[in-house]
Amino acid sequence: MRILVIGANGQIGRIVVDKLKDSEHTPVAMVRKEDQAAAFKDEGVEAVFGDLEQDISRAFDNIDTVVFTAGSGPHTGADKTILIDQEGAMESIDLARENGVKHFVMVSGLGVENARQAGEKMRPYMHAKYRADEHLKQSGLSYTILRPGLLTNDPATDKVELFVNQPEPGEVTRADVASVLAEIVNQKPADRVYYLLGGQTPVGELF
Ligand SMILES: NC(=O)c1ccc[n+]([C@@H]2O[C@H](COP(=O)([O-])OP(=O)(O)OC[C@H]3O[C@@H](n4cnc5c(N)ncnc54)[C@H](OP(=O)(O)O)[C@@H]3O)[C@@H](O)[C@H]2O)c1
Repeated sequence: MRILVIGANGQIGRIVVDKLKDSEHTPVAMVRKEDQAAAFKDEGVEAVFGDLEQDISRAFDNIDTVVFTAGSGPHTGADKTILIDQEGAMESIDLARENGVKHFVMVSGLGVENARQAGEKMRPYMHAKYRADEHLKQSGLSYTILRPGLLTNDPATDKVELFVNQPEPGEVTRADVASVLAEIVNQKPADRVYYLLGGQTPVGELF
């Protein structure tokens, strides 16, 4: 399967692409800079240009699954959060549906449904992610929404806990999130929302 990774040059994105490259699948890395595309091509990974603030329709040619792990990050204002995390994600969902994508995997965040209770700085981000999640649920696409807790850069453990109801806040490593995303690409749990924290269950036994 050809898997479009949106946010491929991000911290989670790069690990996901690496894992997919070593699997039966073909990752397609969506990036917005020439040097990023060159780095992926050097590793034998197909890259496609796409900026979520612009027209990204070409990236969806011949794609089976989308993994959306892009984000405007903590150093931009609410304007970029809305343009990228919300509008960019919603446009990606619409294009996926129009192009016959079979499964859409969204990296969301733990607690996004409680945006109104969030602090002022986090509120636009949580609203944006929640809106994008709701848009995906109503899109008619087969989807998996993954809501990880606070991300850390600790080494992979390949052991996590998945929850169907929102757990108390906690942490999970980016490497483990990437492993779970690769497993979701394989198993395609349809129309599911999962919360993810570090834990004791091997990633290979989650689904
Ligand atoms: N931080 C947390 O604790 C936490 C918790 C739960 C969920 N999350 C979510 O986890 C996801 C991934 O996290 P991460 O640490 O891997 O993030 P990251 O390293 O900041 O990566 C984000 C990626 O999004 C890309 N991006 C930003 N704006 C874009 C645009 N306009 N068009 C196309 N791509 C764009 C960036 O591109 P460049 O490489 O070109 O900059 C980067 O590759 C994010 O969506 C975040 O919301 C975070």
